[in-house]
Amino acid sequence: METKTINYENKKTELCRLGEKYGTDKSPFNTRPFIHGGPGHRHPYTCFYNDIFSNIKLNKLKILEIGILQGKSIYMLSEYFPNSNIIATDHVDGMKDELNKLPNVTFDHIDVSNINSIKNICSNYGPFDIIIDDSSHKFNDQIRVIENTLKYVNKGGFLIIEDIMEDKNIFLKYNNEKYKKMTYFNSEDATLANNVSIEELYNLKLKEEYKKCGTFYTLRHNNSYTPGWNNNKVLLFSK
Ligand SMILES: C[S@@+](CC[C@H](N)C(=O)[O-])C[C@H]1O[C@@H](n2cnc3c(N)ncnc32)[C@H](O)[C@@H]1O
Repeated sequence: METKTINYENKKTELCRLGEKYGTDKSPFNTRPFIHGGPGHRHPYTCFYNDIFSNIKLNKLKILEIGILQGKSIYMLSEYFPNSNIIATDHVDGMKDELNKLPNVTFDHIDVSNINSIKNICSNYGPFDIIIDDSSHKFNDQIRVIENTLKYVNKGGFLIIEDIMEDKNIFLKYNNEKYKKMTYFNSEDATLANNVSIEELYNLKLKEEYKKCGTFYTLRHNNSYTPGWNNNKVLLFSK
């Protein structure tokens, strides 16, 4: 799969403003603190999403986000896509009642480590125009999500895997020191990751039918901040 780099410099889009308003780290202007302590992460994702979504934002779409934490990204998407039906999913159900109060949002449970859980959500609510995976960020979970959701994306639609690490060596070192309990790669993939680029890791794992519509985007912004994680890369599948 090809890798493209886009530098947004200081750009502030409508979606960046909404991300800032609601406090999701998808926006490079996020001011909310990181849940693990310290300043909040700030990805340039809202610049990229505004590019690909601005001409369809008033359409009646079906949108699935996997991994919603405190619902900040869902509040953002709910306002940006007022005519769409947004399915908010997580393996923690704490935001269910809050999010179900939004007129265009439905919360449901998903566990991306469980293939049947992913299949249930897709068969109950799909097909979708946009799917965003912002859940565990574990390599094998991301592969499982791709293999089990892409067929539920409508023609002209998108599947986006967020938070792809740009340099697994920096991440693995930082990860080992700071987040000992979080295993983003299983031991086999961690060994493999030492020898190939992060893109190659996905290329090795995914079948041709998935790879033919996938592109990595390395996104840059002067205000982005993801120390140690270096995960401003997304993997976009366009149907
Ligand atoms: C980075 S946060 C999501 C942030 C949110 N999308 C935003 O922009 O504000 C990751 C979320 O993934 C969820 N998660 C972690 N592991 C998961 C799993 N196995 N299945 C489903 N969700 C999971 C966590 O509970 C957490 O809410």
